[in-house]
Amino acid sequence: MTTLAIAPEKVTSPARLFETGMGFMATKTLLTAIKLELFTLLGENALPGAAIGERLGLHSRGLYDFLDALVALGFLQRDGLGEGALYENTEETGLFLDKNKASYVGGILEMANDRLYKFWNDLGEGLRTGNPQNEVKYTGKPVFEAIYADPAGLRQFLGAMAGIQAGTFAVLAQAFDFDNYHSLCDIGGANALLAVTVARAHPHLAITSVDLPPVEPIAREHAAQAGLADRITLASLDMMSQPFPQADVITMGNILHDWDETQKKHLIRKAYEALPKDGALVVIENIIDDERQHNAFGLLMSLNMLIETAGGFDYTHADFHRWAREAGFRATSKIPLAGPASAIVAYK
Ligand SMILES: C[S@@+](CC[C@H](N)C(=O)[O-])C[C@H]1O[C@@H](n2cnc3c(N)ncnc32)[C@H](O)[C@@H]1O
Repeated sequence: MTTLAIAPEKVTSPARLFETGMGFMATKTLLTAIKLELFTLLGENALPGAAIGERLGLHSRGLYDFLDALVALGFLQRDGLGEGALYENTEETGLFLDKNKASYVGGILEMANDRLYKFWNDLGEGLRTGNPQNEVKYTGKPVFEAIYADPAGLRQFLGAMAGIQAGTFAVLAQAFDFDNYHSLCDIGGANALLAVTVARAHPHLAITSVDLPPVEPIAREHAAQAGLADRITLASLDMMSQPFPQADVITMGNILHDWDETQKKHLIRKAYEALPKDGALVVIENIIDDERQHNAFGLLMSLNMLIETAGGFDYTHADFHRWAREAGFRATSKIPLAGPASAIVAYK
């Protein structure tokens, strides 16, 4: 008779291993639904499976498994069973994944489907070589040049940034005390989402958003759509080689994590130089906890920087504090924002 090598009370379930190890199935099911615009099709409606299949051009074979898997994963609601059943959005998918709503945040998930999913297949190569595994690997161009070479890629990237930052910037606009400042400049401001969000909440602030030249027309479009074209100054600027515009508050959302340590310090120093005494640099990122063991999303985002950039990595408050003090800032403080994201403020 064989005996268990492990005492029964020590036997643990492998469920978590399977959940994460096979998690790509759920990931791809959700991302494919977004890619097919299923949640936009459903909008506020309840539709039978056959009508969904017809509208999305899906074969009957996988149709009900696809829809019912989305029900089981909590991304659709269903009334009934089988051909007579009606499918509709959950509150969450209806709010965040219906493209007809301003609250749509699926841009980052569209980019995850179209780019990141396949690039992450080469994580092992990235870990062995330290080299990016995205377009950079195939084109030899620096990351933003490679992505922005295609106008659709540029728009998708900016949409992705907006998707991941919308909630975070909304919280920042309330959580940071802008009352004592008169001007703000967002460095690498993408489609000016931070500028638009803060401008709406703080009418007294003069706001500038700067980014690379291909981005400026899209930022202009977005500011105009928001009715804030006259409130926000938009400009093209190479943040690496040109001085920053002077402002009381300089913000950088998911900027520092794109760059290596020397470049991070270079950007922090430039911010210091552009700020007046008592000015503030605010960085908004998925700041890793100082023990590097709780903010899993921050750590995974740092691996994403391995995939996406030549030397980028995410960092802790302690890391940033050291760099900021080296640049001359007198103090730093952390403000928790939405989910894994935080702001760290460096005071001149
Ligand atoms: C990861 S995105 C972050 C965008 C936005 N701040 C946010 O929080 O979503 C990095 C941004 O930096 C911009 N960028 C990259 N290199 C730049 C440079 N040399 N000068 C100015 N902007 C740059 C990119 O165009 C992109 O918008």
